[in-house]
Parts: sequence; structure tokens; C-alpha cells
Amino acid sequence: MALRQTARTLLSRRVPAMSLARTQAMPVRTLMSTAQTRSDALFVHRDTPDNNASIPFSFNEEFMTMAKEIIARYPPQYKKAAVIPLLHLAQKQNDNWLPLNAMNYIADLLEMPAMRVYEVATFYTMYNRDPVGKFFVQVCTTTPCMLGGCGSQAVLEAVEKHLGVKAGHTTKDKKFTVIEVECLGACANAPMVQINDDYYEDLTPESIVKVLEGLARGEKVKPGPQNGRLTSAPDKEKRTLTEEPYGPGKFCVPDFA
Ligand code: FES
Repeated sequence: MALRQTARTLLSRRVPAMSLARTQAMPVRTLMSTAQTRSDALFVHRDTPDNNASIPFSFNEEFMTMAKEIIARYPPQYKKAAVIPLLHLAQKQNDNWLPLNAMNYIADLLEMPAMRVYEVATFYTMYNRDPVGKFFVQVCTTTPCMLGGCGSQAVLEAVEKHLGVKAGHTTKDKKFTVIEVECLGACANAPMVQINDDYYEDLTPESIVKVLEGLARGEKVKPGPQNGRLTSAPDKEKRTLTEEPYGPGKFCVPDFA
């Protein structure tokens, strides 16, 4: 009975004209529109001219220093526990992707079977086992980003239009690779995009194009909110936690005050 009453209340509620217009304006799209990846591509390695066992890989001095520091965090008999951060370092040194020989190199460094390293590298989608552009653009299109601000669909379309490639592809000059990703944990600043190690948030179609233009010119574009707000603070007036915070003892019976 109560359920029926609630349903009736909801149905009788008028949909605001703004949200109705926005719903109608939103294009229908599939849940995942990134270029289809064949399931075997997720874990099978096939030799290519730029990714095969004859191409050497080793850490340079800077990355070796970082690798040693990470390995030293673990007891010597458990140094293989450093495999995830070391793969990440290898990917960072190698322009955002992880070639076969980087995995073999790390297996040697951590004295573990290469197969164990392959298992880790193929399990986590954050490891790119094929070359990507200099700037790896990950557009979040999960629900909060889809609904926040101008919506991730508008941001994705702006990126694709500006770069002239669809999600899942790399530009001809090898500067940008675009993909769609699931929530990157910055929903309070939706819509957002991750480019290499940086988050660009509170985006609009115009501001993401400015970010891409700046990066293409070789500038260091300031990451974070692109609409001027401070981190995740309210972008306009404060709407929550507006009352004076109360101190200890408030609202307690006198004995505890
Ligand atoms: S949904 Fe985009 S960061 Fe969470």
C-alpha cells in the first residue's frame, strides 16, 4: 500500500522543464562505445616490429634509483611483491606503454618467473601493452561524469572532433591516444579526463580543447579544475555545512557536557 502511494507520488511529480529538455537533448549511446577490443587481445602477446623479445629494455639511472628504493621496502625473500610498482615505472619510462622485454627485465630483476609478471601485466588494464600516444587521454564516461556539468558525452565528442580520432585510436602524429574509461574517482569534479598522470576536471567542450591545445604546444597545462574552483570546494555559494560547527559536549545531557 505504502509502495503504491510512493509510486503514485513520484508519478504525479512534474518533471522540471530544464531536465526534460536536457534528457531529450542527450544522444542515445551504447554503454561502451570505445573501439571493440577482441577478448584475446587482452592477454595474448603477438610479436610486432616495435614489440618483441629482441628489443632491449632496461631502467635508466633515474628509474633504477626509484626501482631500488621500492624493492628495499620489502624483505629480500618477498621482493617480487614490488612487481606492480615496477611495471608502472617501466611503463612510465617507456612513453606510457609496457613492451614485452620490460616485463622480462622486471622478472629478472625480481628473480621471478616471467609468466608471473605477464599474469600481472595482463590482468590490470592500466598497463598498456601496445604503444600509445605521447599523451594518453582517458575520458571518464561513467554515470557521475555523464551527468555532471556539461556531461562526459560532450567532452568526449569535443576531444574526438578536435583530435580527429575516435576513442580507441591514436592520432597520426602519435601525440594523442584517446580511450573511454570507467570512474577515475574524481566524480565530485565531473566531467573529468586523465591525461598521463594528471587529472583535468570540471571540464567543458571548450576547456578540454584548450588543455589539448596547450599540451600539443608543449606547455605544462595546470591540472585540476578548469573552471577556477578550488579542488572540490563549492563552485558557487556554500550549500551544505553552513551552520556553525558545534564543539564537544553540545547536545549532551549536562552530566556529559
Ligand atoms: S564517474 Fe567520472 S570520475 Fe567518477
